[in-house]
Amino acid sequence: MTLRAASPGQRAAQVAEPLVIAIAPPMLSLLASAKRVAAVQAKVLVTGESGVGKDLIARYIHAHSPRARAPFVAVNCAGLSETLLESELFGHVRGSYTNAHCDTMGRLQLANHGTIFLDEVGEMSPRMQALLLRFLENGEIQRVGSDSVVARVDVRIVAATNRDLTKMVADGQFREDLLYRIKVVHLHVPPLRERPDDIPALVQHALGRSGGGCVLTPEAMDALQRYTWPGNVRELHNVIEQIISFAGNAAVTVDDLPRSVMTAAPGTVTRTRERRRQVSDDIYDALVSREYDFWHHLQTLFMNRDVTRHDLREVVRRGLQVTAGSYRGLVVLFHIDPLDYKRFLNFLSTHDCRVDFREFRAMRPTVVARPSPFARASVPSDPLPIADLV
Ligand SMILES: Nc1ncnc2c1ncn2[C@@H]1O[C@H](COP(=O)(O)OP(=O)(O)OP(=O)(O)O)[C@@H](O)[C@H]1O
Ligand SMILES: [Mg+2]
Repeated sequence: MTLRAASPGQRAAQVAEPLVIAIAPPMLSLLASAKRVAAVQAKVLVTGESGVGKDLIARYIHAHSPRARAPFVAVNCAGLSETLLESELFGHVRGSYTNAHCDTMGRLQLANHGTIFLDEVGEMSPRMQALLLRFLENGEIQRVGSDSVVARVDVRIVAATNRDLTKMVADGQFREDLLYRIKVVHLHVPPLRERPDDIPALVQHALGRSGGGCVLTPEAMDALQRYTWPGNVRELHNVIEQIISFAGNAAVTVDDLPRSVMTAAPGTVTRTRERRRQVSDDIYDALVSREYDFWHHLQTLFMNRDVTRHDLREVVRRGLQVTAGSYRGLVVLFHIDPLDYKRFLNFLSTHDCRVDFREFRAMRPTVVARPSPFARASVPSDPLPIADLV
């Protein structure tokens, strides 16, 4: 007897812990819940709009569960006809239909001891819903074309949908008993428009993945934060890809953004910009007044992602306005030990927070020019030229 997986690309895969970017409180609390629920066996229903990260959360749960070393197997319940979906889930025996040349293992069996992710579970036909319910009750696998049970499997179920299953139950489109079985724990992924604080970090990550040196002006980032993102994170990735392909390594302005993003409501821009300005202004003031130590406070906040790359750049930008583009002056202004000048430059470069000093060169310095105990001469000359920063 030959036995193989249901389709060539179908392999049970162990997943590495996925990177889930979360800065906004609702996402942080979602991740905390996901981690908690991962530790137990409860079935989880993940809901949320299209492209919001449901798949990612399902993988995150698996990666944090005691089953992490066992397979994570995903099935998209929407993409297949009823017969194919049954065969994908339960497998089939040779000759059960045309082209069924050998006995084939289904994905539920492939996921044994691991997690099965039933994506778009709301799209299952009534018959498939009944088959799934039966499986949830007894864990038995009966392949298409066979009337005997071939195996009992132990899988954890994580399901996802962007449909309102409760309404579907009320409309008679989804079985209430199945809903109760799959929704022991419910995790809702909020849409991106409800967590604009995540946008700068998601954008930076997407830009970083591209490997290019493209940066967004603060106004362009504001526009991205006020846009409503109907396609959520997936759409954001597409927009960034589009931007990169047009902008190359240049600074991206509002005019470079796709039309849909640019036409978002103007009022939000001001509010978002004001809020972000406030964060960077507070940090700047704390550094200048010595309330914050650059390494002890700001670096820690940044590494914990409490301060975004954009905020840090804004702090640098504000400082460069004061020092007329001098990074050595920034060391003085922020009360950084002069011996740490190179470390400071490296830190900014490593985290892509360098700001081109040239636009500030024409300005008159407002702080370093005044008589100060931190005269330029007190900063040792360094082999790394400032031009290396740009
Ligand atoms: N918080 C996040 N951090 C990093 N990447 C994310 C995040 N959320 C979503 N993504 C990325 O966005 C894309 C869409 O996410 P995903 O496929 O998980 O969404 P979905 O809700 O399952 O979408 P659909 O409803 O279309 O199935 C993926 O490339 C995913 O890696
Ligand atoms: Mg998905």
